[in-house]
Amino acid sequence: MPALDRSACALLFSGAHTAHAFGDEPVTDAQIRELWDLVSPAPTAFNSHPMRMVLVRSAAARERLVSHMSEGNKAKTAAAPLSVVLAWDDAFPATLPRVLPHNPAAAGFFGDDERRRTFAVQQAWLQAGYFIVGVRAIGLAAGPMLGFDAPGVDADLLAGTSLRSICVVNVGAPSADSYKPRSPRLAYDEVVTVL
Ligand SMILES: Cc1cc2nc3c(=O)[nH]c(=O)nc-3n(C[C@H](O)[C@H](O)[C@H](O)COP(=O)(O)O)c2cc1C
Repeated sequence: MPALDRSACALLFSGAHTAHAFGDEPVTDAQIRELWDLVSPAPTAFNSHPMRMVLVRSAAARERLVSHMSEGNKAKTAAAPLSVVLAWDDAFPATLPRVLPHNPAAAGFFGDDERRRTFAVQQAWLQAGYFIVGVRAIGLAAGPMLGFDAPGVDADLLAGTSLRSICVVNVGAPSADSYKPRSPRLAYDEVVTVL
């Protein structure tokens, strides 16, 4: 099996950072489509892929999104070339017959509200990780943020939909002031247990 070379690993992981500022270049729909083409084959349980991407493009929608961001996240969200609300779709079981045709009974597994929510949030977060790596893979930088009022976003930008937000990610071309210094990570021995 081939492996990624060092420069590809650096682009995706070792040399990549969370971005807090961006260059001015716009992020196009074609780039987000390319990203989705890259990451959509990534695995999720039941092949459910319940994550949805809401591209906040209009000035009015951008202003409303910024109003729901925490103080420290407002200015960089207002200035980002593109902000994407990552959400899970409460209606995802409706797509299961199409994406999991060999298991027609799967949708019935998610009738219980709490079970459906817990599952979809977990799987959407898994996809959010793929999303961040996908942004890097197409040569852009990502600034994921949990500092926002998710119920506020749901009641405002996502009102009348079956989408529930989990994360807001600013996306754009990296610039000289995009990154903060790397904080320490845990060592291998701290995170690995061999039984
Ligand atoms: C899910 C998630 C939520 C985050 N929320 C925020 C946030 O609200 N505001 C912020 O400034 N940074 C936020 N961060 C950035 C993290 O602090 C950053 O990714 C981490 O410190 C690693 O930084 P590095 O990529 O430069 O090494 C978030 C990152 C992730 C993955």
